[in-house]
Amino acid sequence: MAKFTKIEEKLLKSITDDRLRTSLAVIREAVEKIWNVDAPRIIQDFTDHGTKHCERLVDFAAKLLEANDGRLLSSYEMYLLLAGIYLHDIGMQCDVVKFPRIKQKAEALGAQYDVEFSAQRASGYSINEQKTIRKNHQYLTAAWIDYANRTGDTLLGMAAKTIHEDIVDDLKGGNTLFDLVKEPRGKTGNIDVLKGSCLSILPELESNGFDFLMTSPPYCNRYDYTRTYALELALLDVDEEKIRDLRQAMMTCTVENREKEDLDRFFSKEIFQKANESFEDQQELQAIIKYLEEKKNNKELNNPGIVRMVKNYFYETALIIFECARLLKSGAPFVMVNDNVRYAGANIPVDLIFSDIAQDAGFNVEKIWVLPTGKGNSSQQMEEHGREELRKCVYVWRKL
Ligand SMILES: C[S@@+](CC[C@H](N)C(=O)[O-])C[C@H]1O[C@@H](n2cnc3c(N)ncnc32)[C@H](O)[C@@H]1O
Repeated sequence: MAKFTKIEEKLLKSITDDRLRTSLAVIREAVEKIWNVDAPRIIQDFTDHGTKHCERLVDFAAKLLEANDGRLLSSYEMYLLLAGIYLHDIGMQCDVVKFPRIKQKAEALGAQYDVEFSAQRASGYSINEQKTIRKNHQYLTAAWIDYANRTGDTLLGMAAKTIHEDIVDDLKGGNTLFDLVKEPRGKTGNIDVLKGSCLSILPELESNGFDFLMTSPPYCNRYDYTRTYALELALLDVDEEKIRDLRQAMMTCTVENREKEDLDRFFSKEIFQKANESFEDQQELQAIIKYLEEKKNNKELNNPGIVRMVKNYFYETALIIFECARLLKSGAPFVMVNDNVRYAGANIPVDLIFSDIAQDAGFNVEKIWVLPTGKGNSSQQMEEHGREELRKCVYVWRKL
């Protein structure tokens, strides 16, 4: 196994997942072999970018992280940082004649070769060939990792196979928000900012008229946005009374939100009824509400308003989900970012509950992307219920 320096060992403390640690160790070992003093040198007439160079970069990275107030990186982030440091220059050791598929892939990624390669052996590249490899080494690095990961071939093969498939998926492309829309990009349109609550505005918009819908709605986390935006609201001359009205008009997400009595007047009868049914039929949600009600009756909730908040949060968002299904064209994506939450020890899987309701509303649940590190726990809750991370997600649904 590769021997890590003291500084690497220190950084490795952030990596709690054994698979990631092992993967880094084998990647480092492979990189050592690639740059071994006995290994052929592709680039002979320029600075060596081998293991010592990587160790220097690790030292710099450690110093930069210290300057970042000592804030820790997550396991994944640290893995990517170190793997990136070890691997970023291997393209300079790429034998493009022996591995034409790597050369080709690098070209597809953007490499431009201004010579015909004719080296007979790895140590026999001419000065111009070396220059071209050096100039394109970033593409060759990426292409080599890709090739090794797919085939298990070359000195990097075994190590590249240990790269976790979630990471490969994340980096592969075809997996970003921008790939969701089938329409060609680059068209500009008019921007129309609609002022008011989504609860009253969305029902006024035409059916099947939208190609894409993306939202970061309030999370069920007790944030009072009238407080968050107090300064902006003050600058806009919103006085106290208006702030109170605004708070009540907003989607329920704080204990201060009262019941919205008149929601049926905004929505069509059909949408209102279907959303109500979906909300009532969501068994996990109803079980959570019942549990929180019991806790409230036993005076075990630190704020009794939490039950009303959770209930109305899901109720109102269910109405919005049904309304959005009506607005979207068939095949159009709906993207939502949201966090799961926990009250009185009950983890509320907001992602799964909303995705279930979305299916009732006429969406196909295509993906639920989960952030590698979820949110922690308040210290008080941690004492009572142990530390368990709450998922932070991006949901991708598509209108059927
Ligand atoms: C999680 S934040 C998203 C913030 C936004 N992504 C941004 O970067 O400014 C939720 C937002 O929903 C807004 N909001 C709450 N109730 C609303 C309603 N009924 N209609 C429209 N927006 C609402 C809040 O004011 C807040 O800005």
